[in-house]
Amino acid sequence: MNPPSLIKLYSQQMIASRIADLARQIDHDYRGLDLLMVAVLKGSFLFIADLARAVEMPVQIDFVRLASYGSDTQSSGIVEIRKDLEMSIKNRDVLIVEDIVDSGLTLETLCRILQLREPNSLRVCTLIDKKANRATDIQVDYVGFSMDDGFIVGYGLDYDENYRDLPDIHLLQSTSTT
Ligand code: IMP
Ligand code: MG
Repeated sequence: MNPPSLIKLYSQQMIASRIADLARQIDHDYRGLDLLMVAVLKGSFLFIADLARAVEMPVQIDFVRLASYGSDTQSSGIVEIRKDLEMSIKNRDVLIVEDIVDSGLTLETLCRILQLREPNSLRVCTLIDKKANRATDIQVDYVGFSMDDGFIVGYGLDYDENYRDLPDIHLLQSTSTT
């Protein structure tokens, strides 16, 4: 089997430009509010770093880490919290910052858990909205890029913990021959 090949999909420049757009929108929508960004580890570590610096308003940041069972490339929808938030979100305006929404099952579970803690508002910002496998009608409020299908890596996104360090986002192409 040959190693997978990478095809560049979103360059650093494209990512930075979309993040600047999202930040403008967030600054507008949360004007006068006390925003708490909740990043979902590990995939969104670079995205939250760039997004938090791109918004002009002051924001607070906390992290959650989820364990989702399934194969390397597909989520089963069985999700548990592996590292919980350190801050209370009761009465806070909370923006979940995700890397990818694929089936939407991870996000749906996370939203259900966080809603029980009675935030004032709970919205979702994802860098990538992958629509082809959507299995829920979860609402995503801010979207960086929309794509249909395909497995992507780089800019925080991994395949088996590899490629998170790449500055651009690439499509992972399997070049295996049978
Ligand atoms: P969902 O529960 O199917 O929406 O899966 C969401 C999670 O699966 C994302 O937050 C990612 O961590 C991971 N994931 C889904 N698609 C990809 C991909 O194309 N590349 C890397 N990770 C992915
Ligand atoms: Mg993730």
